[in-house]
Amino acid sequence: MATQEQLLSPKLQDEIKEMMASYPKPQSAILMALHRIQEELGWVPEPAQAQVAEIFGMPPQDVTTLVSFYYMYHRKPVGRYVLKVCKSISCYLCGSERVIKQLEDKLEIKMGETTPDGEFSIVGSECLAACTGAPCLQVNDRFFENCSEERVNDLLARLRRGDDHFPPANKSWQPKES
Ligand code: FES
Repeated sequence: MATQEQLLSPKLQDEIKEMMASYPKPQSAILMALHRIQEELGWVPEPAQAQVAEIFGMPPQDVTTLVSFYYMYHRKPVGRYVLKVCKSISCYLCGSERVIKQLEDKLEIKMGETTPDGEFSIVGSECLAACTGAPCLQVNDRFFENCSEERVNDLLARLRRGDDHFPPANKSWQPKES
């Protein structure tokens, strides 16, 4: 039988098993395990989904369903900075569509895409629980609120300079070779 491509390091597998052991029902740790995988790899590739399914003793399609359902998991590689724009009602009423259009125009990509240099991805999100700062977005997992046109321009300039307030989306991120 062909062996599945192994993407999860032995250390990460051990961490996942520790997470499972800390819950009365080991399967309760699945979302946390997927977060850790994404933190390591930058996204959750299919071979990693299959591998984690095996660790949890779950059908692989159940893991695929979870990864597809929750917007926070990336099913394809993303850029150094993931701009996650809230599209829910408070942000929508305060101008999230203008923010998305501004990002798309400035970065010359569409929602769901990554710039060719691998620096930026734009993704949509449900409510980020920062409605008082609407319209808001996250850069990787850090909040950026009250996204006026000027503040978004300033944010992009900071990110292009490699502002270390917003670390790369994953530990393995490397600049693309030119
Ligand atoms: S609606 Fe955007 S953070 Fe709640």
